[in-house]
Amino acid sequence: MASILIINGPNLNMLGTREPEIYGHDTLADIENHCREAGSKLEADIDFRQSNHEGEIIEWIQGAREKFDAIGINAAGYTHTSVAIHDALKLTGLPIAEIHLSEPKEREAFRHYSFIEPVASVHVSGKGKNSYSEAIQQLHDILKS
Ligand code: DQA
Repeated sequence: MASILIINGPNLNMLGTREPEIYGHDTLADIENHCREAGSKLEADIDFRQSNHEGEIIEWIQGAREKFDAIGINAAGYTHTSVAIHDALKLTGLPIAEIHLSEPKEREAFRHYSFIEPVASVHVSGKGKNSYSEAIQQLHDILKS
């Protein structure tokens, strides 16, 4: 059974009330349930986490090497700032999916560069919670191929 770690970065714990005109009304718990449904259809095990702390996210990524087959990450604001998360993802050697609810490249200029993009082989954005399930599906396809 494939085992996929889904990591959510800062402020995603506020979904539901945070800028619903951009991120929609789904809470992080709704998104977690959506990911679990996607995982059970594929018979993949989903570990779903959120942190507002860059160091904690880096420790989860480092630890993923032994425990998981792939990582999906919505690094939120750290997408556009974190060389350290980029480096951690790279050292895992695992397939990585970059996930966004919105379409950052169609928003403010400071969201146009992603430090995650160069280390990810899957990119899904702009589809709300479906960005997560599509990313899980694509990671699963990579693991099966
Ligand atoms: C986001 C996009 C980022 O630019 C932003 O900082 C977020 C959420 C998204 O899911 O659309 O916090 O990653």
